[in-house]
Amino acid sequence: MKADVDPNVIVYFNGQYMPMHDAHIGILTHALHYGTGVFEGIRAYWNAEEQDLFVVRPREHYVRWKQNGGILRIAVPQTADQLCEITAELARRNGFRSDLYIRPLAYKSAERIGVAMDDQDAFFIVALPFGEYLHSENGLRAGVSSWRRIDDNAIPPRGKICGAYANSALASDEARRSGFDEAILMNESGHVTEGATCNLFMLRNGRLITPSVNENILEGITRDSIMELVRRELGLEIVERPIDRSELYVCDELFLTGTAVGVAPVTHVDHRPVGDGAIGAVTRGLRQLYMDAMHGRVPAYRKWLLPVYGKSPWTERDETRMKEASTA
Ligand SMILES: Cc1ncc(COP(=O)(O)O)c(C=O)c1O
Repeated sequence: MKADVDPNVIVYFNGQYMPMHDAHIGILTHALHYGTGVFEGIRAYWNAEEQDLFVVRPREHYVRWKQNGGILRIAVPQTADQLCEITAELARRNGFRSDLYIRPLAYKSAERIGVAMDDQDAFFIVALPFGEYLHSENGLRAGVSSWRRIDDNAIPPRGKICGAYANSALASDEARRSGFDEAILMNESGHVTEGATCNLFMLRNGRLITPSVNENILEGITRDSIMELVRRELGLEIVERPIDRSELYVCDELFLTGTAVGVAPVTHVDHRPVGDGAIGAVTRGLRQLYMDAMHGRVPAYRKWLLPVYGKSPWTERDETRMKEASTA
């Protein structure tokens, strides 16, 4: 996240819209000490042609957030649809007309010493102008981390739990200090899991392979979008199975997916070229298709987008259908 965040930006905190400089959390807050929060990362893309801002799959993000809250027994009272509406309203109140990153965070809010959890919960949603997270247009250099991915029986990686991100931060820091752009983490079974903040796909012999959801990965929403795009638009087979480290060295193409990174090609792993060391055709095509879809330029995937200022064609279609039904 950029350091020059505008303190006047309007955030949603304790049930109210307010400037960020008025939103404070006490230094004894349980989540700050023990990592007992769950968060989300949501993107919104500005479409200049339509003069509209499209929030990407907010319902899916909020459903995941509420479910993950359940892992830590953190309750978010609003429905996923109400949270979508709060998010759109936040963008409107800020008058945002650029790409955004949206960070909802629900947490154990009691202010006291002691690790045991009680039922005091709170949440906030912050939306900020946000550009590229990793500069991946020319491909990334990834390194397999010496840090192991945390296990479901330690801190569930599918939970997007704040404390679990110390694992991602350690791996990411190590990777960058070693000259890589991104870390790839292995699990305790010795299989490839994902990047520090993104899922991983590998192309081998015409099939797209990605670790399955019980390999200690986050069940990525971008991963899900990519799987649908690949099946429907590219007609490629997708296999979910364990991946060995050395498969990364012999595969044809490799890329990472995530809300922040989008589709990020990996052209080198552990100082070895992936394929011929250039961005592969499947990755390049998918990266463009994903960006087109998320900007609302592909009608079939407008279903994933919540328009902040206008109406998407599918909303209009639904309204027309409802009108027709009511006059029939
Ligand atoms: C560890 C990890 N894996 C994968 C992802 C990608 O998930 P999504 O596509 O839902 O953003 C993220 C980002 O949220 C992440 O933090």
